[in-house]
Amino acid sequence: MSNRILLLGAPGAGKGTQSKRLADAYGLEHITTGDALRANKDMETDYGTPREYMDAGELVPDGLVNEIVDAALADADGFVLDGYPRNLSQAEYLSEQTDLTAAIFLDVGEDELVRRLTGRRLDPETGEIYHVEFNMPEDEAILERLEQRDDDTEEVVTDRLEVYYENTEPVIEHYRETGDLIEVDGEAHPDEVFERISEVIDEDPTDA
Ligand code: AP5
Repeated sequence: MSNRILLLGAPGAGKGTQSKRLADAYGLEHITTGDALRANKDMETDYGTPREYMDAGELVPDGLVNEIVDAALADADGFVLDGYPRNLSQAEYLSEQTDLTAAIFLDVGEDELVRRLTGRRLDPETGEIYHVEFNMPEDEAILERLEQRDDDTEEVVTDRLEVYYENTEPVIEHYRETGDLIEVDGEAHPDEVFERISEVIDEDPTDA
């Protein structure tokens, strides 16, 4: 059976960077609630628009996010899930929808998280993720079109980290208690972090 991998971690831990690589390397769907919400930021819903929550660094209501994940899981055989679940109620909902083969936690310290988020830049055409210090494109045309995410300002990053400590750390604790959590040190070059995650998956994906 295909891998069904959960990638957990704080904002800026490298979930997006590593999920893309894992999806390519293992032929998995990359399911990311953050990208799905960004693509529909101004969509009117029963809960208002996603933008109202995202630009403040708050969580978008569970009902809306659960619907996104439901639809994505229905279409996916194997997947890497990035940005969900973010609170215990989402974790419970997920456990009713599917079984996981691995719940991997990317561990990164707070100073490094802030540095990564405030320095992140995105290519709107390809979705490629860059960083002003660690990884910038050489192509002048790409450099000129790079954008910063609305929620990557220092002020919103602080709020996002608070929301993470309050809502998502209990989720990580939950998977630790069930014995499903695999911790990976995320403070290394992205290639090295990818190696570490791959080792974990290749060891015994069904036993994780
Ligand atoms: P979301 O898009 O999920 O953002 P996030 O979890 O805050 O995570 P990020 O995308 O910011 O970080 P990342 O871990 O993917 O880091 P990346 O790989 O880019 O959510 C955004 C908002 O949507 C939320 O605030 C909320 O409002 C809403 N939302 C989403 N899901 C929700 C849910 N389930 N429920 C409710 N609301 C939800 O890396 C960061 C930077 O570091 C990059 O510049 C990268 O180049 C660099 N980098 C990566 N790895 C390394 C490395 N090893 N060394 C050096 N630099 C690195």
